[in-house]
Amino acid sequence: MTRILVLLPLLAFTASGAPGDSSAVSAGDLRVEYATNPLGIDSLQPRLSWVLTSAERAQKQTAYRVLVASSAEKLDAGTGDLWDSGKVASSQSTQVAYGGTPLASRQRCYWKVRVWDKNGLPTRYSATASWEMGLLTPFHWKARWVGYPPGWPGRALYFRADLDVAKPIRRARAYVAGLGYCELRINGARVGDHVLDPAWTDYSKRVLYSTYDVGSHLHPGKNAIAVIVGNGWYGMAKLLAQIELTYEDGSTVTLPTNGGHIHPVWSVTSGPILGNSIYDGETYDARLEKTGWDLAGPEGPAPADRTEGWDVAVPVEPPGGRLVSQSLEPIKIVESFAPNSVSRPALGIAVYDAGRNLAGWAELRAQGERGTRVTLRFAESLAADGTVNQENLRKAAATDVYVLKGGGAETWEPRFTYHGFRYVQVEGLPGEPGLENLRIKVVRSAVEPNGTIETSNDLINRIQQMVWRTEASNLHGVPTDCPQRDERQGWMNDLTVRLEEAVYNFKLNRFLPKFLADVRDTQDADGAITDTVPFRWGFRPADPVSASYLLLAWYQYLHYGDTRAMAEHFDGLKAWTAYLSRRSQDGIVTYGNWGDWSPPKEFAVLGDLGTGAVSKNTPVPLISTGYLYYCSRLVASMAQVLGKEEDRIKHEELARRVASAFNREFWNEQTGGYGANNQAANSFALFLGLVPESRIPRVVENLVRDVREHGNHLTTGNLCTKYLLEALTLNGRMDVAYDVVNQTSYPSWGFMLESGATTLWERWEHMTGGQMNSHNHPMMGSVSAWFYKYLGGINADPAAPGFKRIILRPYSEKRLEWVRSSYTSPHGLIRSSWRRDNGAFIYSITVPVNSTATVYVPTADPGRVMEGGKPAARSDGVRWVKNEKGAAVFEIGSGDYRFSSPL
Ligand code: BGC
Repeated sequence: MTRILVLLPLLAFTASGAPGDSSAVSAGDLRVEYATNPLGIDSLQPRLSWVLTSAERAQKQTAYRVLVASSAEKLDAGTGDLWDSGKVASSQSTQVAYGGTPLASRQRCYWKVRVWDKNGLPTRYSATASWEMGLLTPFHWKARWVGYPPGWPGRALYFRADLDVAKPIRRARAYVAGLGYCELRINGARVGDHVLDPAWTDYSKRVLYSTYDVGSHLHPGKNAIAVIVGNGWYGMAKLLAQIELTYEDGSTVTLPTNGGHIHPVWSVTSGPILGNSIYDGETYDARLEKTGWDLAGPEGPAPADRTEGWDVAVPVEPPGGRLVSQSLEPIKIVESFAPNSVSRPALGIAVYDAGRNLAGWAELRAQGERGTRVTLRFAESLAADGTVNQENLRKAAATDVYVLKGGGAETWEPRFTYHGFRYVQVEGLPGEPGLENLRIKVVRSAVEPNGTIETSNDLINRIQQMVWRTEASNLHGVPTDCPQRDERQGWMNDLTVRLEEAVYNFKLNRFLPKFLADVRDTQDADGAITDTVPFRWGFRPADPVSASYLLLAWYQYLHYGDTRAMAEHFDGLKAWTAYLSRRSQDGIVTYGNWGDWSPPKEFAVLGDLGTGAVSKNTPVPLISTGYLYYCSRLVASMAQVLGKEEDRIKHEELARRVASAFNREFWNEQTGGYGANNQAANSFALFLGLVPESRIPRVVENLVRDVREHGNHLTTGNLCTKYLLEALTLNGRMDVAYDVVNQTSYPSWGFMLESGATTLWERWEHMTGGQMNSHNHPMMGSVSAWFYKYLGGINADPAAPGFKRIILRPYSEKRLEWVRSSYTSPHGLIRSSWRRDNGAFIYSITVPVNSTATVYVPTADPGRVMEGGKPAARSDGVRWVKNEKGAAVFEIGSGDYRFSSPL
């Protein structure tokens, strides 16, 4: 019975053609500026997107109509009073810029969309989605920065104010920026689930504020608004907050931090958080908790406490930066679990094992006498005696302390620190330590995981998992180098090779533009950027290998189809390239500090304390010059996208000059290779396309010979490891690349795993002492992008970015039985999975609606490629394009396909 009911509407859809019919396509996952129903949009022309689904093959959008209304009721009635796009003949379903009435601060917009499918049939309207504008100009901020009266105790600050709610509320918002990090509370409860908020920026340039809908937290009468502010990356805690109420009758009330004795007064005190530092940890003395401090009315602070210890929050020097709405995903606790085991290496010491390395903290559950001090020390490895080894954290104390208030069960977790760890050593815990005393919390920017890949080779699966975990540990508002030691910086050199892996594994369409703005904030009048962003470590100017600045914009375009970020930053990207060009002589850039950083130690110059990781054989000028070439090519490509013809020509010309300088300077006719004819130099030259056609065979031969001579091991550092695998694969030697990846002896990813790694190391060596050796460092993780691109075969097409057109091109490496991969594109889920079956290659594909794919089906006989049991060229939705060496190439529309071909 139920079956029939379900089938009925489907039948109605398939009877095609007649006017009034609606399409079998439906539109969902409506987003604005990549977010679902966001608050605090500060773009005046927000970009809209939707995802189409359909059970039919080769479905696509031929037109759309967007309605945007000022109220849900108007929208329901079919009126787009803010914008009615009308029927637009276009296949664009992402990056559709709002084109209606100018939008104002705080404005709420409700919207829906319908599209016309490949047959010209309209879909029903989607469900309603919404967005709300942020505070668009400084003028809308009534609040001022407030802080502690002179003589700040160095502790976290507790701010509070009372808010009277006199009438029924229509809309209630809190706009909050507490530096370094803050937590908003109303009437004793935390608002939202952000932690370590707002994201780190150069606060003298930009400060991010968060917007909360606080309606459900307020009640009639007196309410307490409270904010705890920690030091974070800023230092002296300060707060800017503005609570806004609109009553049902249209009247409004604003409660800004105002500094001074203006009613209502914000007061400030210090409290139980005695110490808070990102590197060193948090110290919390529960005995100092002020009961009811964040409550109002009779439940609030006891009369004596209301004034005692509290001061009026006074105006303080603002951090200086522009206020910008936080548009990237906030940092959150994304996972929490019980530790695997606990051991007792010494009296009074319990060591918990989370089972894997991660970034976050531990929640403590304890019961004991008032004043008992429990210490938690975090580390990535253990010493021989089973206690934690914190040596590689350098100066970071990574220690939390909790002092019990007594009188019952107590649960505590820190607010203003985070640690990179696998082990937690707990000292002073009353009673017998059990697994229930600790909960592990995984903390990062709450970006969505985006790709999956699995193969018949378990080593590859474990490498992939190791890279994924490492990347996940290092997305903290900034793409950090590591989460554990006294560093945690946005290193631009690492990012150059890390970005592609990151965008395959996570949806970074909101994260990348935020970081692009961070980079721009470091740029000086000469065009120079800095090694780390925000700038704290390394040098200005950044190492020339920091093509990451350009790649941020490029991947934002390639993976998400976003040209706005590229356009907005184009001048800055050009200026960095021009800076490098000015630092060149006859086309050669000679400066550089890091080059192909951190190769296996016998290929590195040993520095102080064995920390040196500069490549011995790969000349810095070769690497730096290669990156000037790369940057000029990237600028030329972006200029082409943006229609800036003059810039394109100029940068292609620059690229040509640098290419010939590179060949003049680094080519060695005798050896048939570049520089020292080593893996790094040769693969970099090949990857960049700097090797003239006639020389390619010799260079590839040298590259292969070098890998073989090193027993199928790499000799490369953070950068050229990426290029080694790509150069081999793209030049017909997938087998050799696979040998390197499949390696388990030193140096290799497999060696890390065999030595017990659960996240990537910074060095190829297994080091655990006081030297530079993080155990959670994404810079060696580019291999994961290689998995997606060449094993899974999922690639974006720069000519139709955002996976509007997908290039599916798996390499059928003999030793693999099967591969299953997927990627959530802006148009929907892509699947690319294959297996071998009795000499046949079985290839299953899903292409999302409104996308097409160019598919390279590996085969020994293009004439015998089948799809869905028919000769492929005759199958519905499939068009044969050409045959290539070892592959038949087809163009396909959306839907599920199953190719089979003789190998
Ligand atoms: C960072 C690395 C970075 C290097 C460059 C180190 O301290 O951790 O990720 O590549 O510095 O010098």
